[in-house]
Amino acid sequence: MNTNIKSSKVPVGVLGGSGYTGLELLRVLRGHDGVDVRFATSDSEALHPTPIPGLAFVPVAEARLEDVEVVFLCVPHGEAAVWVERNGARVGRVVDMTTDHRPGSGREAGAVYGLPEVTPREVAEARLVANPGCYPTGVILSLLPLVRAGLVDASRPIMVNAASGVTGAGRSPKRELLFAEVVGDFRPYGLGNDHRHLPEMRAALPGLQLLFVPHLLPVARGILETIALPVATGVDAARVKTVWRDVYGGCGAVRVEDHAPALAEVVETDLLALAVFDNVGLEGSTLTLVAALDNLGKGAAGQAVQNMNLMLGFESGRGTRC
Ligand SMILES: NC(=O)c1ccc[n+]([C@@H]2O[C@H](COP(=O)([O-])OP(=O)(O)OC[C@H]3O[C@@H](n4cnc5c(N)ncnc54)[C@H](OP(=O)(O)O)[C@@H]3O)[C@@H](O)[C@H]2O)c1
Repeated sequence: MNTNIKSSKVPVGVLGGSGYTGLELLRVLRGHDGVDVRFATSDSEALHPTPIPGLAFVPVAEARLEDVEVVFLCVPHGEAAVWVERNGARVGRVVDMTTDHRPGSGREAGAVYGLPEVTPREVAEARLVANPGCYPTGVILSLLPLVRAGLVDASRPIMVNAASGVTGAGRSPKRELLFAEVVGDFRPYGLGNDHRHLPEMRAALPGLQLLFVPHLLPVARGILETIALPVATGVDAARVKTVWRDVYGGCGAVRVEDHAPALAEVVETDLLALAVFDNVGLEGSTLTLVAALDNLGKGAAGQAVQNMNLMLGFESGRGTRC
């Protein structure tokens, strides 16, 4: 790593700056005192202003890669893999927001899966970080410490009910996401347990039977996941909280709550709020976990900035809204 870069602002660039994750990333980077955004690309909004004062979007072909130390890829799936293949060697560090280099993608070799609370040392050394997906962030960060502590009964399925606001589907127009189609409604989608985020969750949580049911929530942003977790005999909510607090206690981005967190508590932040509750009336111990995060915050831009911070030798939460 270039150790001189800590003394001055690090130049960074954003590919796909006009999408929902790119715009959110630019808003977070605007408040970061350690970096300087040199370019943000958009072919459809070239010359339009970005959230960074004085910076306009440039077409992809005009992005000056030689000027930056870190590039964020906030582009559609498939495009990041193509870009890394063609340009990866030209920049020092890359943070990829897409599924292209995540575990289970088949292209994970050479990339580090960027969970700042779990793999900080690996991220610090990485040249290419696969930023985790929004749904997987809540599921993996809630379950992984419990699996490692031996609390989960892996012989029974884990039911994950997940609801996301409509920005989760990106900014390009789609009829089923029109205001009149979603307002006043609430529906599951992707039924059949084959959502595109499942390979990533399964790779991070091997041996667990995840039954993942996503829902479309008629709000702009935010994810709420309720998880029915089979646990070993004698494991209760208090034990889970102790494990979470041991793992995440000193970490600003993950908060362990005593109440069920609501979306309003995490939207427009880079926080993940976790809670756990005991249940009565069931054979076999099953706890209810709740995970709340902003799909564009801890689920995308906030986590990407944490990863960038670690790659640059900064404190992980620097510039984030935790
Ligand atoms: N939305 C979320 O909640 C969320 C959360 C986590 C991760 N992600 C992932 O992050 C990525 C971006 O998602 P998004 O929701 O921000 O998408 P989006 O709103 O559709 O934005 C896509 C961006 O990519 C640009 N773009 C399109 N084709 C491109 C190409 N061939 N080369 C370079 N730039 C191109 C677009 O601008 P121009 O067409 O104007 O160039 C736009 O700025 C996706 O892979 C998504 O799965 C999304």
